[in-house]
Amino acid sequence: MTRYTGLIERYRNRLPVSADTRIISLGEGNTPLIQLQNIPRLIGKDVDIYVKFEGLNPTGSFKDRGMTMAVTKAVEAGSHAIICASTGNTSASAAAYAVRAGIKAFVLIPEGKIALGKLAQTLMYDAKIIQISGNFDRGMALVKEVADHAPVTIVNSINPFRIDGQKTAAFEIVDALGFAPDYHCLPVGNAGNITAYWKGYTEYTTDRVCGNRPVMCGYQAAGAAPFVLGEMVDNPETVATAIRIGHPQSWDFAWAAQRESGGWFDKFTDEKILAAQKMLSQFEGIFCEPASAASLAGALHDIGSGKIPEGSVIVCTLTGNGIKDPEIAMMQCADAKPVTIDASLDAVKRAILDNL
Ligand code: F0G
Repeated sequence: MTRYTGLIERYRNRLPVSADTRIISLGEGNTPLIQLQNIPRLIGKDVDIYVKFEGLNPTGSFKDRGMTMAVTKAVEAGSHAIICASTGNTSASAAAYAVRAGIKAFVLIPEGKIALGKLAQTLMYDAKIIQISGNFDRGMALVKEVADHAPVTIVNSINPFRIDGQKTAAFEIVDALGFAPDYHCLPVGNAGNITAYWKGYTEYTTDRVCGNRPVMCGYQAAGAAPFVLGEMVDNPETVATAIRIGHPQSWDFAWAAQRESGGWFDKFTDEKILAAQKMLSQFEGIFCEPASAASLAGALHDIGSGKIPEGSVIVCTLTGNGIKDPEIAMMQCADAKPVTIDASLDAVKRAILDNL
């Protein structure tokens, strides 16, 4: 057995690093590809649905895949500080990898609009948090501007090294299955991840590691769905704060992925997204954050309508961990209050027998 030391080491020959590069890693990647067992039975469809549970990365989201590369390359280039705008996950990831590298992280976040766990993480990693009275898109614009005026490296997904790191998730899926899925479903916000998966699948197909590329299905929240509307959205709104984005940066790349794969974009209400999040927890034991559940909400919708036919192999990316957003979880389970009883054998026994 060799100790797993992160995705750059694993896919070194497919990433822009040299033997001299100091690799900044927290052991990211190598996340489980879990086959759903109960949900397909529940919906009565003959489909193989796998979830790529990216919530099990070191800071709890897929961003770590991109961040290990972006920070490694920033340090290699001599940078002493990184900056990003974020809806919460990128900021947590940037902060952690900056600590690991011994450099500074500045993060711009929309005030009051990031999940509690993400804020707590970013504080613990000791990043310089700059809250703005504006949304992610405004933060992104400011980050792009300030990088011309201060010595900071941008580590949002407009940094191409982020995409290179994140493409490894597609490699892992093909390596695990032995082939590419028929359909790949994922939530779309800033659109870096759909760009990265498409790049990964394309590289593997070009090198004949797999024979085909999946149809890419990008799902958005109804109140933040520029790809579905075909135009930017100025005031995006959704309970899935991770994808509360109206001006995605990787606009052209995402459209290329959709076009070249024969895929599509669709949008779902917050209710549908939250229902999918709860379904995954209650029927499969998998707790992802709300934005992540857009992938399953979309897949189930398209399986139900027949757009994704029976017999298909489907992978849904679950981009982040549910424990990042405890407030939503408590709201989702408001009716499921814990029972409070006397601390006696009798009372515990009754609580069990009453609920068997
Ligand atoms: N799911 C989660 C949990 C996310 O945090 C994000 C993006 C997405 C999906 C969408 O991915 O932007 O590549 O299309 N979060 C960014 C952030 C914007 O700042 O953490 P995308």
